[in-house]
Amino acid sequence: MTKVQNNLLTRRSIYRFSNKDIEHNYLEIGFEAARHAPCHKQTHPWKFYIMGKETRNKIIPIVKLMAIEKALGSKEDVEFGINKAISKIKDVPTLIAVTTSINTNDVFRDEEDYAATVCALHNFVLSMWEQGIGSQWSTGSITRHEISYQALKISSEKERIIGFIRVGYPEVVPERKKKSISEIRFYLP
Ligand SMILES: Cc1cc2nc3c(=O)[nH]c(=O)nc-3n(C[C@H](O)[C@H](O)[C@H](O)COP(=O)(O)O)c2cc1C
Repeated sequence: MTKVQNNLLTRRSIYRFSNKDIEHNYLEIGFEAARHAPCHKQTHPWKFYIMGKETRNKIIPIVKLMAIEKALGSKEDVEFGINKAISKIKDVPTLIAVTTSINTNDVFRDEEDYAATVCALHNFVLSMWEQGIGSQWSTGSITRHEISYQALKISSEKERIIGFIRVGYPEVVPERKKKSISEIRFYLP
């Protein structure tokens, strides 16, 4: 098996990270991979915002509120829910918001740009994985809240946050059941 194929087959979303920080030079290798993603019309619609302590702190009040609402709705212990939600923002070694540019007057371009940004995001994730570093793409409601746009100092009319990526050294690599080739591939006459 080639190195690339092995990387593709072994990558998993990582939910538990060690406390060890990720050095910037490793992240830069990932961003180098990201910027080489395919992109129709050369629009390069993606941006990666690495969220430092100050930026993360700005969204915590809303993260708390959302956690309270969720806990009350699910009968989960409120204190436990709040701590878990805050930890997902504060304790992860690297937190990156990924955005794609918005094309309000061209729906097809908007869709193609979103697709290209996903390619860039996954290039980044795969590059990190090759370096022994795990990631998890999150589309939790905080990623769509206006407070996140304010924290990143970007306009929600020009850019859309497509998710946060949590990045760190894996503590556990989960197993995932995937569809078989015969379920997804169809040679046609
Ligand atoms: C668009 C997208 C959004 C995702 N959002 C979340 C999320 O909000 N929370 C989460 O726990 N995992 C999220 N994931 C990770 C998926 O749950 C994960 O990819 C899936 O379980 C398959 O596992 P694998 O990535 O290890 O193959 C997201 C993945 C994608 C592609």
